[in-house]
Amino acid sequence: MRRSIYIETYGCQMNFADTEIVNGILNEQGYELAKDVDTADAIFMNTCAIRDNAEQRIYGRLSNFEHLKKRNPHLVIGILGCMAERLRSSLLEENSSVDIVCGPDEYRRLPALIDEAFQGEKGIRTQLSRVETYNDIVPLRTDGISAWVSVMRGCDKFCTYCVVPFTRGRERSRTLEGIVGEVRELVGRGFREVTLLGQNVNSYLDGTNDFATLLEAVAAIDPELRVRFTTSHPQDMSPRLIDAIAGRPNICSFIHLPFQSGSDRILELMNRTYTRAHYLELVGRIRARIPGVSMSTDVIAGFPTETEDDHRDTLSLMEELRYDGAFMFKYSPREKTKAWKMGDDVPDDVKGRRLEEIIELQRRISYENNKALIGGTERILLEGPSKRSQEEWMGRTDTNKSVIVPKAGFSVGQYIDVRIVSATSATLFGEIVDEVSTRAA
Ligand code: SAH
Ligand code: SF4
Ligand code: F3S
Repeated sequence: MRRSIYIETYGCQMNFADTEIVNGILNEQGYELAKDVDTADAIFMNTCAIRDNAEQRIYGRLSNFEHLKKRNPHLVIGILGCMAERLRSSLLEENSSVDIVCGPDEYRRLPALIDEAFQGEKGIRTQLSRVETYNDIVPLRTDGISAWVSVMRGCDKFCTYCVVPFTRGRERSRTLEGIVGEVRELVGRGFREVTLLGQNVNSYLDGTNDFATLLEAVAAIDPELRVRFTTSHPQDMSPRLIDAIAGRPNICSFIHLPFQSGSDRILELMNRTYTRAHYLELVGRIRARIPGVSMSTDVIAGFPTETEDDHRDTLSLMEELRYDGAFMFKYSPREKTKAWKMGDDVPDDVKGRRLEEIIELQRRISYENNKALIGGTERILLEGPSKRSQEEWMGRTDTNKSVIVPKAGFSVGQYIDVRIVSATSATLFGEIVDEVSTRAA
């Protein structure tokens, strides 16, 4: 009898891409993918450890699975991903329902771990690797418009607050040939957009080729393919990379470039390796070279020792940059990191209030930026149905903004030109002005 496996994924896009790799490995070994938890012989969670609340969510979900296991004692439960790597054997020791713990560089061992678990043996694999990139594994994806393609793994930056260097290990890159081959196949299957992924995607280096070369090679595959990438670190935003984005119409004019804090003192304590002035100078160069570029960022509120002045520096940097979007977080202390030893001295209510101010400011700026687009024309790629209505599509602009339009006989995967008629802080609404176009930009 073929056993069936169900995987739930949490955390960043790298984890979603990893789940496709795991599915590829399991599929190859003859496992079936279960449609839902109730019919699965084994349930896995691919986990995130970035902040405490991410982990608490996993424990909550685990207790649901424990109930299932009471009804079906043969059910196998496994933890994959960053929590597996961070907590290792303590996950087995403290959660009797867990049978398998497998870190992000050990997924080739999963079939063996699963076989043992079905025979009643618990197992754990959490070795990190300096070379594993799963370059040869074909990720199992369902057909669609957009695909995630992981191009490098790990992080060597060691920002003092961050657990990723401990959960994902050292940086390593796939080969350019491997990535280009995979994207060619995706294009053949009808995908219209790829997002190249890495914790520091722009520090990609396969020995010969850097990220600018990789982006150009991927963009050259097909002018109808949109190419996106995330996440970039300011330190690796080379002039050649900026030129590559400017020079190829189908490399999207959208850069997610986390600054984390607007205070030089905090940036130094975070080990971000740039100052506010460096960051502003870099953004100035990017905007001058790539007209119409859209940018977004990550921000942390309440890093150890952060004062009201530091917080105001963050708000003023946001005002100055006027980005289109931001992911905004309360600082969460993580064991093993340098910042852990700095204490967690900003009280939770102060962190919460600062975060609220940051969110409110960003909402206002996003709304103003979106409102300024009303009346203009945008080319969008139709990606799927709108959440609100069966009669509408959701598409995205080259600058990564969601646009809702009437279906009007068009299909998913087509590029169409729309006039923007209204806007909220998160969404644009458009009307169709032109026939289908065959070009990404
Ligand atoms: N490699 C990417 C992002 C990694 S994690 C980068 O450097 O840009 C995504 C975001 O989570 C980070 O940018 C940061 O804003 C946030 N983050 C990471 N560790 C955190 C922590 N301990 N507390 C709160 N936010 C954190
Ligand atoms: Fe974490 Fe910094 Fe690496 Fe991003 S660059 S993953 S924030 S250590
Ligand atoms: Fe979370 Fe790991 Fe990604 S900690 S953010 S899933 S790399």
